[in-house]
Amino acid sequence: MGTVKHLVVAGQGYVGLPLAVEAVRSGYNVVGYDVDEQKIASLKRETSYIADINSETISEILRTNRYTPSSHGREMRGFDIAIITVPTPLRDGDPDLSCIENVAETVGRFLEKGQRQTVVLESTTYPGTTRDVLIPILERVSKLTAGVDFHVGFSPERIDPGNKTWAFRNTPKIVSGLGDECLRKVSEFYSSVCDNVVPAKGLEEAELAKVMENTFRHVNIALVPTSL
Ligand SMILES: NC(=O)c1ccc[n+]([C@@H]2O[C@H](COP(=O)([O-])OP(=O)(O)OC[C@H]3O[C@@H](n4cnc5c(N)ncnc54)[C@H](O)[C@@H]3O)[C@@H](O)[C@H]2O)c1
Repeated sequence: MGTVKHLVVAGQGYVGLPLAVEAVRSGYNVVGYDVDEQKIASLKRETSYIADINSETISEILRTNRYTPSSHGREMRGFDIAIITVPTPLRDGDPDLSCIENVAETVGRFLEKGQRQTVVLESTTYPGTTRDVLIPILERVSKLTAGVDFHVGFSPERIDPGNKTWAFRNTPKIVSGLGDECLRKVSEFYSSVCDNVVPAKGLEEAELAKVMENTFRHVNIALVPTSL
């Protein structure tokens, strides 16, 4: 990397916190943004709440002075890349996208003309969410155009918790963008934190890949004999 890039990871949970750790280790300046003030307070106290990340790791990234846990949207100002890792729970069988909608309103406020920033959604969701839900909010709030003034992509989180062989860096990372230039930017970022980046044809293909993977895991789990 040339100049140190300013990365925002919105959501410091099971997906966002490990990503923030790897990005700090790769040399990025990272704001770990979360609306949960208790989690932010815990991070500032150098205390982890995620099984895969121990508290020493939180101390290590805080010591670099390149990790800022915060619940203030203003810390996003001047970001180069924002990665969204907020929850998408099912409510009565339908995905609740309110956290994505919420965080998009905040990220959109910090998109600036001429800065060519990049926004990537990692949350698990149905095909079409990035194009039909995320992008319209970012464009409305910023008054800018996706694919022209800023880059957008979708890259599913594929981590298999507890898997000793496939961890953050060596799990192939599926990436996608709204057109070639967005895909190039998204691939460039993930290539700096993951060993193997796999470009999908488009946003919806990457979103569908995650739905298929979850379906595959559900079937596998359902076939585990209860006697095990
Ligand atoms: N946990 C996993 O193993 C896993 C694996 C693959 C994909 N995913 C997907 O990744 C997404 C995140 O999952 P998770 O397990 O990290 O969830 P999580 O609940 O552990 O963390 C999400 C964090 O986002 C925060 N948040 C909610 N609204 C916010 C907002 N508007 N702005 C900023 N922060 C906000 C929450 O406070 C929470 O700390 C989900 O879509 C999930 O389905 C999770």
